[in-house]
Amino acid sequence: MLGRWTFAPDVYGYGHAIGDSGDWAAWLLMATLAVTPLRLLFRKQGWTGWLLKRRRDLGVASFAYAAGHTLVYLWKKASLTTILAEASDAYLIAGWLALALFVPLAVTSNDLSMRAMKRSWKALHRLVYPAAILAFLHWIWSAFDPTTAWIHAGILAAIELLRVALQRQQRRGRSRIRA
Ligand code: HEM
Repeated sequence: MLGRWTFAPDVYGYGHAIGDSGDWAAWLLMATLAVTPLRLLFRKQGWTGWLLKRRRDLGVASFAYAAGHTLVYLWKKASLTTILAEASDAYLIAGWLALALFVPLAVTSNDLSMRAMKRSWKALHRLVYPAAILAFLHWIWSAFDPTTAWIHAGILAAIELLRVALQRQQRRGRSRIRA
């Protein structure tokens, strides 16, 4: 993306760079959130264990694309006055807030932070859910035709509903064993 935007700006302009980087950030976020339900559904399959080990990498990759996407925006606007003036648009407020929630998650996505933070690590990383809602609102509100954004939001909602249902089922199973 960066190569095309830098070396072929006539055919791959700002619209392409901001759109593609945003799409990749959102797709990687969806992939990150799909890991837990996939693991719960196919617990015995080795590939879900492989995915689980790479969940943090997927999350960090999503953040990297979101950060790149923001840099494309800042580079294009190139003026603090314009950036501050546009920051009151609802879709940009949602984008900035999503990015702000992503930062502590990306910074603590390493073994050292996991060990140091113990139980609070998991609590902090639950911020991924409000961040995802904000990122998808940002996408829906930014789009001229939000159909694609709504389709993706629907898929993400299905992934989350499945996760909640599977986790409930798992908890019920555990309490039955204890009883
Ligand atoms: C977690 C953070 C973010 C995610 C996941 C994200 C994702 C997206 C997605 C999926 C799109 C639509 C791309 C398309 O049309 O194919 C988009 C558009 C856009 N985003 Fe973001 N975004 C994030 C944060 C930000 C931030 C912080 C800014 C700037 C301050 C920003 C600025 C824009 C702009 C200018 C557009 C294009 C709107 C248009 O088509 O006119 N985004 N973003």
